[in-house]
Amino acid sequence: MTRTAAVADWTSDFDVLDPGYVLDPFGIWDELRTRFPIAHSDRRGSTWLPTRYEDVTAIAHDVEHFSSLQVAVIPFDGTPPSDPVLPYGLPPISSDPPLHTWTRRLLLPWFSHARVGSYEAMTRALCRRLLATFADAGAADAAGHYAQQIPVRVVAHILGVDDALADTFTGWVRDVLEFADDPERRARGVRGLVGYFLAEIARRRIDPGEDLLSMLLHAEVDGAPVEESLVLGTAALVLIAGVDTTWSAIGSSLWHLATHDEDRRRLVAEPGIMAFAVEELLRAYSPVTMARVVTADLEFGGCPMKAGDKVLMNFPAANRDPAVFERPDTVVLDRAVNRHVAFGSGIHRCAGSNLARMELRVALEEWLAAIPEFRLDPAAQVTWAGGQVRGPRELPVVFPVPGARATGTAR
Ligand code: HEM
Repeated sequence: MTRTAAVADWTSDFDVLDPGYVLDPFGIWDELRTRFPIAHSDRRGSTWLPTRYEDVTAIAHDVEHFSSLQVAVIPFDGTPPSDPVLPYGLPPISSDPPLHTWTRRLLLPWFSHARVGSYEAMTRALCRRLLATFADAGAADAAGHYAQQIPVRVVAHILGVDDALADTFTGWVRDVLEFADDPERRARGVRGLVGYFLAEIARRRIDPGEDLLSMLLHAEVDGAPVEESLVLGTAALVLIAGVDTTWSAIGSSLWHLATHDEDRRRLVAEPGIMAFAVEELLRAYSPVTMARVVTADLEFGGCPMKAGDKVLMNFPAANRDPAVFERPDTVVLDRAVNRHVAFGSGIHRCAGSNLARMELRVALEEWLAAIPEFRLDPAAQVTWAGGQVRGPRELPVVFPVPGARATGTAR
């Protein structure tokens, strides 16, 4: 497997699954940005990696030359199978206009400010329930016991599916995104998601509810119902796009607060800066990279791109570009000017950004209210996942238990 082959030259042979890159890609981007701002690699098919804000956003806006028909950062081995069940992939993310335009429009109302506001109370109650299971223990895995548990349940609620299956959903989503270079795991995740949603669709044809899945199934576009494969793809996308991404953002933010005492104490003391802090943490630890496929031979930024080449939409590197952000590698919790692209840019900009922001804010507010002092467990190791979505997968932290808080001792 290519996963572990060492990288000798990041400009011409990069590997986004290189363990060092997954752990700390920031220095590599800085170097590429100054020396070779659009790197290239043939490891998983001919692929380009832009690192400058200007290039990433220009490509995101040029949907004619950079198509979304293949958005997987880790491609299928060889040619992607033509899929009889999901012929359009996961719209709107895997589509270009005109299909993109109306499939996106169907989803947007479910993630409006007003609708997201209505999910806040259940999100807050969920965070409190989770915290109650370990706040007195003095130690927890902030990723596995907390961050990972939140988005999957919120999304299950919106889709109207059983949140008792949260761990199963998380497993399928991880198979598809995090273990995408293992064909068997990826296929298992796809099979799991498709099988589950096909059964749910059949159930809702007979007994519709008030949820997103029922709405998709009973929606009409130009007087006709939405094709089942589109309903299936869109429902699966909401789960895939809403779980690893937000969980990674919550986890990275908690990692930052566990490792930066001043920032953690400031956020506790000044809750009024939370809205800025959420944006800044999203900027600094942007979890999501997406791909595009080049539609025709062209030259971009001096690079000879060929039809069929992949381009990785390196939103995380764009967010660390010193041409756009002052002191880009420093987290400034109340950064006032912050035009980050953690949610993408252009027509595919994240449809769930209001929801993601609410979940991140509420998750941090509740954690800090229950556990204001915490740090990494010096006896355990943090592990990170990378590729399409970067974030901590194990985040062992220690903190004073309530009785010991007055003295401030951890465990
Ligand atoms: C911190 C969490 C999140 C981040 C960083 C994030 C990031 C992104 C990015 C970068 C894109 C653009 C993809 C592209 O250009 O190809 C995107 C698209 C999308 N996201 Fe998110 N996302 C997050 C959470 C969510 C949530 C919670 C949902 C819904 C439950 C969601 C649903 C979507 C959808 C449906 C699209 C496709 C939009 C389109 O193609 O028009 N995302 N997201």
